[in-house]
Amino acid sequence: MHGAEAVVTNCTFLNVPCVSKRRFPKQYRTHVLDSKLRRERTKLEAKVMHRAKTTGTLCPFVLNVDLEKCEIIQTKLNGTALVDYLSTASRSPTSSAGSTSMLKKAGEQLGRLHNARISHGDSTTSNFMVVGKEVYLFDFGLSEFDSSIENQAIDLLLFSKSVSPAQFQTFLKGYKKICGKNDTKRLLVQVKEIQSRARYVER
Ligand SMILES: Nc1ncnc2c1ncn2[C@@H]1O[C@H](COP(=O)(O)OP(=O)(O)O)[C@@H](O)[C@H]1O
Ligand SMILES: [Mg+2]
Repeated sequence: MHGAEAVVTNCTFLNVPCVSKRRFPKQYRTHVLDSKLRRERTKLEAKVMHRAKTTGTLCPFVLNVDLEKCEIIQTKLNGTALVDYLSTASRSPTSSAGSTSMLKKAGEQLGRLHNARISHGDSTTSNFMVVGKEVYLFDFGLSEFDSSIENQAIDLLLFSKSVSPAQFQTFLKGYKKICGKNDTKRLLVQVKEIQSRARYVER
């Protein structure tokens, strides 16, 4: 499994089926910078996954971190990425209820992460996994602790760009349930602000 940044492979750890996520050297970066960056991202990702659980975010469990190899061994999410789930559901007229429920749950998960003052950084439908009746969040390689309103708004914006406007409204219902009406409204104002800034740059 290849993401944009890392290589994820199936493995076992103490007999538990897991995945290993490794960041391999990038040729275009100087060796010292590259190795520092990979180590820092690996460390941060593992910490975030751990801290995210304090506010109930469903995400993989970290079983081992090897900073020499820049590797995180984590529990395997046996499911379907939300992006694939939604595209399969859109072809089946009976499963729109499933999509609605999963989108709300995805919103709840991001809301819980933000409640821990963590921004995700890459919150598209590729980084949510539908597992049974639950939605898990993963891929915290670009996350930040003590996240600003700006970074949380970027999370909402990234999600909105990966779904239809109607699907985003459904997602927001779940988000609102966890973060409340006022905070969500405040964040959406920030989203508009970012969008207008982007339009200004594009002109
Ligand atoms: N805990 C996990 N369980 C199951 N599959 C995973 C897990 N972590 C990653 N993957 C798979 O590996 C792919 C890449 O992992 P990801 O963490 O998203 O890395 P990247 O930062 O490169 O996008 C994911 O899209 C997913 O298919
Ligand atoms: Mg990813």
